[in-house]
Amino acid sequence: MSREIEFAITTIPGLEDVAAQECGGLGITIEATSSGFIRCRGKKENLTRLLLFTRTVLRVLDPIFQGNFQSQGDLEKHLFRFSWERFLRPWQTFKILTIGRSSLASDRFLTLRIKDSIVDRLSLKQGKRPSVDTKNPDVTLTLFLGDSNVTVYRDAAGKPLSFRGYRSQAGEAPLNEVIAAGLCNILGWQGRGVFIDPMCGSGTIAIEAALISKGLYPQRSRPQGFAISHWPDKKAFGWQDSAEFSPEPLHGEFCIIAADRDPKMIKYARQNARRAGVEMDIHFVHSPFNQLHERTAGIRSGLSSSGENHQEFILMNPPYDKRLNLQDDPGLYTDIGDTLKQQWSGAVAGVFTANGNQAKHIGLRTDRKITIKNGPLDGRFLIYTLY
Ligand SMILES: C[S@@+](CC[C@H](N)C(=O)[O-])C[C@H]1O[C@@H](n2cnc3c(N)ncnc32)[C@H](O)[C@@H]1O
Repeated sequence: MSREIEFAITTIPGLEDVAAQECGGLGITIEATSSGFIRCRGKKENLTRLLLFTRTVLRVLDPIFQGNFQSQGDLEKHLFRFSWERFLRPWQTFKILTIGRSSLASDRFLTLRIKDSIVDRLSLKQGKRPSVDTKNPDVTLTLFLGDSNVTVYRDAAGKPLSFRGYRSQAGEAPLNEVIAAGLCNILGWQGRGVFIDPMCGSGTIAIEAALISKGLYPQRSRPQGFAISHWPDKKAFGWQDSAEFSPEPLHGEFCIIAADRDPKMIKYARQNARRAGVEMDIHFVHSPFNQLHERTAGIRSGLSSSGENHQEFILMNPPYDKRLNLQDDPGLYTDIGDTLKQQWSGAVAGVFTANGNQAKHIGLRTDRKITIKNGPLDGRFLIYTLY
């Protein structure tokens, strides 16, 4: 049995509770949470499970250097003595991402000093200098600066875990995959029942919903792999280069519908679903939202023929008037509210938008409102129970 270690994960600000719940499910203890950042404690091998099995984690970070320093000189003394060769081979490339500010020196200067200390140390101990690659590094180090404290983490993911690898076709405003999975979770989708994304665009929400229904691990299509595969001590973290991960067994029935009024988006969504291995688990429908209830009656009743009453979940991400404009359809949000109210009684609905003014036109009473960052925008997730 390995001993417990401290590490950290990052997520989208607003999804901390969901990410913490996922970590808890893997036996990880949450120590502290701040915006988009969670400090955890758990067994070393849990790091690999976090990478592979969580849906709302962006990065998994292992702290390798940390401390409080009185001055820049004090920090440099520790940096240049640190055995970086334990974490990086001279033939590997690396990159440093810097977050926060320090009173010791500027973040640019500190990043540069850390880079120099790594290169000098490896050159001295192993006779070769590793080089920096900002695009495709083997090892990504994240530097967190507090007032006088500095922590260097090595990032087990590399490219953030939102890059699942299934979305090669996208519309104007594709949703981050981690946000899509988080919205499914918050709405209460556990993979069973009827799930509808009536404005599916490139299909992200419906694909994440289908991966949940099938118990498929979210990173199965990721072509770029994980940075942990370059770690010299990866085996201690339970990493195996050629491990096979089988789906969890399925229980219960589901029906997932992805619709859009734009036929090109239906084509893209289908292609992306194929890449994710869930094309046959989603019904693709070309329809405007206000005609979708009627057009999908047959599909939805297929599930009810088993005699069970299935809850319907509607989750949509309509245009915000930012990347996709609303000039051609100024009444869209009023229409969303009317359609939900008149056609979808009994369903639970979630609308994710970054346009607070337009959201008011939905005109229905929300059960819950949650703010989730969508890039630089404050996204609002509005949840309605429809009677
Ligand atoms: C912001 S995009 C959705 C992005 C999507 N979540 C993704 O990950 O790609 C909004 C989508 O809503 C669709 N749309 C807008 N109005 C619609 C309507 N009344 N009925 C159906 N689809 C609509 C657009 O064609 C567009 O594809």
